[in-house]
Amino acid sequence: MKQRLLFLGPPGAGKGTQAQRLAAEQGLLHLSTGDLLRAEVEAGSELGREAKAVMARGELVSDALVLAIVRSRLEGQDGGWLLDGFPRNLAQAEALDALLASLGQSIELVVLMELDDGVLLQRLLSRGRADDNEEVIRHRLEVYREQTSPLIAHYRGLGLLQSVEAAGTVEVIGERIAALLTTQGTDS
Ligand code: AP5
Ligand code: MG
Repeated sequence: MKQRLLFLGPPGAGKGTQAQRLAAEQGLLHLSTGDLLRAEVEAGSELGREAKAVMARGELVSDALVLAIVRSRLEGQDGGWLLDGFPRNLAQAEALDALLASLGQSIELVVLMELDDGVLLQRLLSRGRADDNEEVIRHRLEVYREQTSPLIAHYRGLGLLQSVEAAGTVEVIGERIAALLTTQGTDS
Protein backbone atom coordinates (compact mmCIF):
# COMPACT_ATOMS: atom_id res chain seq x y z
CA MET A 1 0.00 0.00 0.00
CA LYS A 2 1.40 3.36 -1.04
CA GLN A 3 1.55 5.72 1.90
CA ARG A 4 3.64 8.74 0.93
CA LEU A 5 1.29 10.71 -1.23
CA LEU A 6 0.70 14.11 -2.82
CA PHE A 7 -2.73 15.41 -3.78
CA LEU A 8 -2.61 17.84 -6.69
CA GLY A 9 -5.46 19.68 -8.39
CA PRO A 10 -7.24 23.00 -8.80
CA PRO A 11 -9.01 24.80 -5.95
CA GLY A 12 -12.25 23.01 -5.11
CA ALA A 13 -11.29 19.70 -6.73
CA GLY A 14 -11.79 17.99 -3.37
CA LYS A 15 -8.17 17.53 -2.28
CA GLY A 16 -8.95 18.35 1.35
CA THR A 17 -12.13 16.27 1.46
CA GLN A 18 -10.46 13.16 0.04
CA ALA A 19 -7.16 13.65 1.86
CA GLN A 20 -8.89 13.85 5.21
CA ARG A 21 -10.88 10.66 4.59
CA LEU A 22 -7.95 8.68 3.31
CA ALA A 23 -5.62 9.85 6.06
CA ALA A 24 -8.14 8.84 8.73
CA GLU A 25 -8.72 5.45 7.09
CA GLN A 26 -5.05 4.62 6.57
CA GLY A 27 -3.57 6.31 9.63
CA LEU A 28 -1.56 8.81 7.58
CA LEU A 29 -0.53 12.32 8.58
CA HIS A 30 -2.67 14.78 6.60
CA LEU A 31 -0.68 17.90 5.92
CA SER A 32 -2.69 20.69 4.26
CA THR A 33 -0.64 23.86 3.94
CA GLY A 34 -3.88 25.81 3.41
CA ASP A 35 -5.35 24.51 6.69
CA LEU A 36 -2.09 25.14 8.55
CA LEU A 37 -1.87 28.69 7.20
CA ARG A 38 -5.52 29.38 8.10
CA ALA A 39 -4.78 28.16 11.65
CA GLU A 40 -1.88 30.66 11.86
CA VAL A 41 -4.14 33.45 10.60
CA GLU A 42 -6.76 32.48 13.18
CA ALA A 43 -4.16 32.44 15.96
CA GLY A 44 -2.93 35.88 14.90
CA SER A 45 0.71 34.71 14.87
CA GLU A 46 3.41 36.67 13.05
CA LEU A 47 3.33 34.06 10.31
CA GLY A 48 -0.45 34.35 10.10
CA ARG A 49 -0.30 38.13 9.86
CA GLU A 50 2.14 37.79 6.99
CA ALA A 51 -0.03 35.26 5.16
CA LYS A 52 -3.49 36.75 5.68
CA ALA A 53 -3.64 39.38 2.94
CA VAL A 54 -1.86 37.16 0.40
CA MET A 55 -4.38 34.37 0.98
CA ALA A 56 -7.32 36.76 0.76
CA ARG A 57 -6.09 37.78 -2.71
CA GLY A 58 -5.71 34.14 -3.78
CA GLU A 59 -1.98 34.42 -4.35
CA LEU A 60 0.72 32.10 -3.09
CA VAL A 61 2.34 32.70 0.27
CA SER A 62 6.15 32.79 0.10
CA ASP A 63 7.93 29.50 -0.50
CA ALA A 64 10.16 30.02 2.54
CA LEU A 65 7.22 30.40 4.87
CA VAL A 66 5.36 27.37 3.56
CA LEU A 67 8.51 25.24 3.53
CA ALA A 68 9.24 26.02 7.15
CA ILE A 69 5.76 24.78 8.05
CA VAL A 70 6.13 21.56 6.07
CA ARG A 71 9.66 20.85 7.26
CA SER A 72 8.74 21.15 10.91
CA ARG A 73 5.93 18.63 10.45
CA LEU A 74 7.72 16.04 8.30
CA GLU A 75 10.86 15.91 10.40
CA GLY A 76 10.54 13.08 12.87
CA GLN A 77 7.55 11.62 11.02
CA ASP A 78 8.32 7.94 10.38
CA GLY A 79 4.90 6.83 9.16
CA GLY A 80 2.99 7.69 6.01
CA TRP A 81 1.82 11.15 5.02
CA LEU A 82 -0.42 12.86 2.58
CA LEU A 83 0.49 16.34 1.36
CA ASP A 84 -2.51 18.43 0.25
CA GLY A 85 -1.95 21.77 -1.48
CA PHE A 86 1.83 21.47 -1.34
CA PRO A 87 3.99 21.71 -3.40
CA ARG A 88 2.38 24.52 -5.34
CA ASN A 89 5.16 25.45 -7.77
CA LEU A 90 8.39 23.95 -9.11
CA ALA A 91 10.56 25.65 -6.49
CA GLN A 92 8.49 24.05 -3.72
CA ALA A 93 8.68 20.67 -5.48
CA GLU A 94 12.46 20.91 -5.63
CA ALA A 95 12.68 21.98 -2.01
CA LEU A 96 10.45 19.06 -1.05
CA ASP A 97 12.69 16.62 -2.94
CA ALA A 98 15.72 17.95 -1.06
CA LEU A 99 13.92 17.75 2.28
CA LEU A 100 12.76 14.18 1.63
CA ALA A 101 16.23 13.13 0.48
CA SER A 102 17.64 14.44 3.75
CA LEU A 103 15.03 12.40 5.63
CA GLY A 104 15.66 9.29 3.53
CA GLN A 105 12.07 9.30 2.25
CA SER A 106 10.40 9.61 -1.14
CA ILE A 107 7.04 10.26 -2.77
CA GLU A 108 5.26 7.07 -3.83
CA LEU A 109 2.25 8.50 -5.67
CA VAL A 110 0.90 11.84 -6.89
CA VAL A 111 -2.88 11.91 -7.29
CA LEU A 112 -4.09 14.55 -9.73
CA MET A 113 -7.76 15.42 -9.14
CA GLU A 114 -9.35 16.73 -12.34
CA LEU A 115 -12.60 18.69 -12.54
CA ASP A 116 -14.26 21.27 -14.83
CA ASP A 117 -14.00 24.93 -13.88
CA GLY A 118 -17.79 25.32 -13.76
CA VAL A 119 -18.15 22.60 -11.11
CA LEU A 120 -15.19 23.95 -9.12
CA LEU A 121 -16.70 27.39 -9.04
CA GLN A 122 -20.09 26.10 -7.89
CA ARG A 123 -18.54 23.98 -5.12
CA LEU A 124 -16.47 26.85 -3.80
CA LEU A 125 -19.21 29.46 -4.02
CA SER A 126 -21.48 27.24 -1.96
CA ARG A 127 -18.75 26.63 0.65
CA GLY A 128 -18.09 30.31 1.38
CA ARG A 129 -14.59 30.28 2.96
CA ALA A 130 -12.96 33.74 3.32
CA ASP A 131 -11.27 33.33 -0.10
CA ASP A 132 -14.36 31.82 -1.81
CA ASN A 133 -15.80 34.75 -3.72
CA GLU A 134 -15.98 34.64 -7.48
CA GLU A 135 -13.19 37.11 -8.19
CA VAL A 136 -10.71 35.46 -5.83
CA ILE A 137 -11.67 31.94 -6.99
CA ARG A 138 -10.94 32.96 -10.59
CA HIS A 139 -7.59 34.31 -9.51
CA ARG A 140 -6.78 31.11 -7.57
CA LEU A 141 -7.57 29.18 -10.76
CA GLU A 142 -5.20 31.41 -12.75
CA VAL A 143 -2.46 30.95 -10.17
CA TYR A 144 -3.06 27.19 -10.33
CA ARG A 145 -2.72 27.18 -14.13
CA GLU A 146 0.38 29.32 -14.19
CA GLN A 147 2.33 28.12 -11.20
CA THR A 148 0.99 24.75 -10.04
CA SER A 149 -0.02 22.95 -13.24
CA PRO A 150 3.63 22.62 -14.42
CA LEU A 151 3.94 20.09 -11.59
CA ILE A 152 1.73 17.73 -13.59
CA ALA A 153 4.43 17.26 -16.25
CA HIS A 154 7.11 17.23 -13.57
CA TYR A 155 5.58 14.31 -11.65
CA ARG A 156 4.42 12.54 -14.81
CA GLY A 157 8.03 12.65 -15.97
CA LEU A 158 9.11 11.03 -12.71
CA GLY A 159 6.54 8.26 -13.28
CA LEU A 160 4.62 9.16 -10.12
CA LEU A 161 1.39 10.69 -11.46
CA GLN A 162 -2.08 9.15 -11.61
CA SER A 163 -5.15 11.20 -12.50
CA VAL A 164 -8.61 10.80 -11.07
CA GLU A 165 -11.90 12.13 -12.38
CA ALA A 166 -13.01 14.30 -9.45
CA ALA A 167 -16.71 14.55 -10.39
CA GLY A 168 -19.23 12.34 -8.61
CA THR A 169 -19.96 11.63 -4.99
CA VAL A 170 -17.31 11.86 -2.27
CA GLU A 171 -17.59 8.06 -1.82
CA VAL A 172 -17.15 7.18 -5.49
CA ILE A 173 -14.13 9.47 -5.86
CA GLY A 174 -12.71 7.97 -2.66
CA GLU A 175 -12.97 4.50 -4.22
CA ARG A 176 -11.18 5.66 -7.36
CA ILE A 177 -8.33 6.99 -5.26
CA ALA A 178 -8.17 3.93 -3.01
CA ALA A 179 -7.75 1.75 -6.11
CA LEU A 180 -4.59 3.66 -7.04
CA LEU A 181 -2.86 2.93 -3.76
CA THR A 182 -2.46 -0.73 -4.53
CA THR A 183 -1.83 -0.66 -8.29
CA GLN A 184 1.46 -0.35 -10.09
CA GLY A 185 2.17 1.97 -13.01
CA THR A 186 1.17 5.55 -13.76
CA ASP A 187 -0.36 7.70 -16.50
CA SER A 188 1.81 7.94 -19.55
P1 AP5 B 1 -5.77 25.81 -0.08
O1 AP5 B 1 -6.38 25.77 1.25
O2 AP5 B 1 -4.84 24.74 -0.48
O3 AP5 B 1 -6.93 26.01 -1.12
P2 AP5 B 1 -7.13 25.58 -2.66
O4 AP5 B 1 -6.02 24.86 -3.31
O5 AP5 B 1 -7.59 26.81 -3.32
O6 AP5 B 1 -8.16 24.47 -2.61
P3 AP5 B 1 -9.40 24.29 -1.67
O7 AP5 B 1 -8.96 23.94 -0.31
O8 AP5 B 1 -10.33 25.42 -1.86
O9 AP5 B 1 -10.05 23.05 -2.42
P4 AP5 B 1 -9.84 21.48 -2.21
O10 AP5 B 1 -9.31 20.89 -3.46
O11 AP5 B 1 -9.13 21.16 -0.93
O12 AP5 B 1 -11.33 21.05 -2.12
P5 AP5 B 1 -12.24 20.74 -0.83
O13 AP5 B 1 -12.06 19.33 -0.41
O14 AP5 B 1 -12.05 21.80 0.17
O15 AP5 B 1 -4.98 27.21 -0.25
C1 AP5 B 1 -5.58 28.42 0.14
C2 AP5 B 1 -4.55 29.53 0.08
O16 AP5 B 1 -3.48 29.26 1.00
C3 AP5 B 1 -3.84 29.68 -1.29
O17 AP5 B 1 -4.59 30.49 -2.16
C4 AP5 B 1 -2.52 30.32 -0.85
O18 AP5 B 1 -2.68 31.69 -0.58
C5 AP5 B 1 -2.22 29.62 0.46
N1 AP5 B 1 -1.42 28.40 0.29
C6 AP5 B 1 -1.80 27.12 0.59
N2 AP5 B 1 -0.81 26.25 0.31
C7 AP5 B 1 0.21 26.98 -0.19
C8 AP5 B 1 1.49 26.65 -0.70
N3 AP5 B 1 1.93 25.38 -0.74
N4 AP5 B 1 2.29 27.67 -1.14
C9 AP5 B 1 1.88 28.94 -1.10
N5 AP5 B 1 0.67 29.32 -0.66
C10 AP5 B 1 -0.18 28.35 -0.21
O19 AP5 B 1 -13.69 20.85 -1.49
C11 AP5 B 1 -14.20 22.11 -1.90
C12 AP5 B 1 -15.70 22.16 -1.59
O20 AP5 B 1 -16.38 21.17 -2.37
C13 AP5 B 1 -16.04 21.83 -0.12
O21 AP5 B 1 -17.12 22.61 0.28
C14 AP5 B 1 -16.41 20.35 -0.17
O22 AP5 B 1 -17.30 19.99 0.85
C15 AP5 B 1 -17.05 20.23 -1.54
N6 AP5 B 1 -16.83 18.91 -2.15
C16 AP5 B 1 -15.70 18.15 -2.11
N7 AP5 B 1 -15.87 17.00 -2.79
C17 AP5 B 1 -17.13 17.05 -3.30
C18 AP5 B 1 -17.90 16.16 -4.13
N8 AP5 B 1 -17.40 14.98 -4.56
N9 AP5 B 1 -19.15 16.53 -4.48
C19 AP5 B 1 -19.65 17.72 -4.05
N10 AP5 B 1 -19.00 18.60 -3.26
C20 AP5 B 1 -17.74 18.27 -2.90
MG1 MG C 1 -8.19 22.29 0.54
